[in-house]
Amino acid sequence: MQSSWIPFVPDSASTVSGKVDALYFYLSGVTVFFTLLISGVLIFFVIKYRRRTPYEIPRPIAGSHKLEILWSVIPFIIAMSIFAWGAQLYFEQSRPPRNTNEIYVVGKQWMWKVQHTTGQREINELHVPVGRKIKLIMTAEDTIHDFFVPAFRIKADVVPGRYTTEWFEATKPGTYHLFCAEYCGMNHSGMIGSVIVMEATDFDNWLSGNSSQLSPALAGQQLFQSLGCVSCHGANGEGGRGPVLAGLFGRQVFLNTGQSLRADEAYIRESIVNPQAKLVSGFGPIMPTFQGQVSEEQLLQIIAFIKSLQLVNPQPATSGPRPAANIAAATVTPTLATR
Ligand code: CUA
Repeated sequence: MQSSWIPFVPDSASTVSGKVDALYFYLSGVTVFFTLLISGVLIFFVIKYRRRTPYEIPRPIAGSHKLEILWSVIPFIIAMSIFAWGAQLYFEQSRPPRNTNEIYVVGKQWMWKVQHTTGQREINELHVPVGRKIKLIMTAEDTIHDFFVPAFRIKADVVPGRYTTEWFEATKPGTYHLFCAEYCGMNHSGMIGSVIVMEATDFDNWLSGNSSQLSPALAGQQLFQSLGCVSCHGANGEGGRGPVLAGLFGRQVFLNTGQSLRADEAYIRESIVNPQAKLVSGFGPIMPTFQGQVSEEQLLQIIAFIKSLQLVNPQPATSGPRPAANIAAATVTPTLATR
């Protein structure tokens, strides 16, 4: 695993890890340079201006504007270079690019549960392909955890009741450490695992290998029926007593307070566990809460199902970018054509 010439530096295996290291070494370089400069000058002055006789009185100093300006402007420029470089890297790391492959992660005391969009589940392991952009959508069941992969130089809190994301593109096949980096109770130090980076073809084989499990979207569809969501939102999210869910994800939603928001994972989750919090314009507070009835993993599955619902679905069986919606539309017989 050790590959750097500097001791204790973890393997560098993602597209950002080299950039993080470069910034880190710049910071270290600035620190070392000024440590040496200041201690060197200090020792020099201590010797040069030492008291030579017991009653010596030094010559008074009036000060120097030139010097004051110099040692203010230079550190300012250095500090701003750290800020600009750090901010630029932070934005790159924290904004997932488009066309990422999404993977759901749920942290709990004391394990990592992973589910791929094709249905594969893993515990304390995460298989990913090399050279593809991966976005993790993460939440926690109990307390705050933190998903940390040192070799990728990525780290993000995993918070109950929220969805945080983290993205990376692995550059080198191998097995890398996964840590929980937020103290989360007695076995925090045991909340570890592996990220296994595979060649793209190996990964595709692995992904299609054990496909006995339902995809999150299909599992979400089953929950959608068993929990009775269909009676108000329609079997394909076409709406009824409840708002339309087809095409909801990413769309602007108008609330009865006059405000509006963009429908994301957090909004959908809140509307399931606390339906009165944000009522859609034109709808009353009639939906019961599902708090405590659905686990975080099931919430992610319902969200995956809602994400897969497309607004218009004229020919459900033909090709489309979201297979889950096609399966959903094909297997559910249309009920009560309201419009
Ligand atoms: Cu989970 Cu520390």
